[in-house]
Amino acid sequence: MFSVKSNQKQAHVIVCGNEKGGSGKTTTIMHLTVALLNAGYRVATVDLDNRQQSFSRYIANRELFTKRFGLNLSLPDHHTIKQDYSDYISDKENNELVSFLDVITDVQAKNDFILIDTPGHDGYLMRMAHSMADTLVTPLNDSYVDFDVLGQIDPETGKVDQLSHYARTVREARRQRRIADGGLLDWVVVRNRLTQINSRNKESMYNSLNNLSMQLGCRLAEGISERVIFRELFPKGLTALDDLDAIMPNKRGTASHLAARQEVRSLITVLKLPIDELNKKRQEARDAFLEKQSKPIDTIGM
Ligand SMILES: Nc1ncnc2c1ncn2[C@@H]1O[C@H](COP(=O)(O)OP(=O)(O)OP(=O)(O)O)[C@@H](O)[C@H]1O
Ligand SMILES: [Mg+2]
Repeated sequence: MFSVKSNQKQAHVIVCGNEKGGSGKTTTIMHLTVALLNAGYRVATVDLDNRQQSFSRYIANRELFTKRFGLNLSLPDHHTIKQDYSDYISDKENNELVSFLDVITDVQAKNDFILIDTPGHDGYLMRMAHSMADTLVTPLNDSYVDFDVLGQIDPETGKVDQLSHYARTVREARRQRRIADGGLLDWVVVRNRLTQINSRNKESMYNSLNNLSMQLGCRLAEGISERVIFRELFPKGLTALDDLDAIMPNKRGTASHLAARQEVRSLITVLKLPIDELNKKRQEARDAFLEKQSKPIDTIGM
């Protein structure tokens, strides 16, 4: 099914997905992107939400801000899959799919990570991205309305009755992936916009999600709190992971900023990305390079 899933695949694919709109996909993927860039990895990003293009705008804002103030902020190798306006749905899907696969084929050998943002609704490209994912991150607002895209709860017992549409989409994506290259999808659900006070809703959501995670085969991350810092930096293309004290000296780092940064770092840890493996490969490449450099220059034939 996927021509890109061959032995040449190198980059680890992280997809941010949830059929529920406004759950924090774009905010999360932007923070993961900057975290990996700042750690020195080669990162390609793809925006599949070709209507809103918020991820593309976030990155464009970062580029503009960097240029305007002569900063040295790291940027990913970013790609947007443009909407195709063919008259027939099958042509449209086919053309968009080809564009997407072309991008993946182009970036996968040159990058350590590919991060893909998906729209908050079902669609052909969104499904394709899910079946390519090595890691799927699903941000989820702490509300049963949002929970409902994953599973339906029995109002009396509070137990999960039935899997919902998005959960079934992920199950199918996992199946497709196994058929394509035997790969496994690691699914991590992240509660987003958590209130900082303990409430009954917070606790019962935790219990329901814990229950559901066993049925879905997903892992739960600790979560990201509701914080202004996650909202206000979009126009500058900045994130809680940037050194805001150095970039905006008049806006001093707050405790909330540091806490936000820590939450994103904890999320990265929970994702268990193949960072050690990549570091080992890099070290080997560096050692090979240094060994070459230390040999005397071959002057024979000069
Ligand atoms: N942890 C957070 N704290 C405060 N605001 C947040 C947080 N996460 C996201 N937001 C805000 O919530 C809104 C939705 O976030 P975002 O655009 O990232 O969601 P999305 O899932 O990508 O939405 P869509 O489905 O429309 O693409 C935005 O206004 C964003 O700034
Ligand atoms: Mg979005």
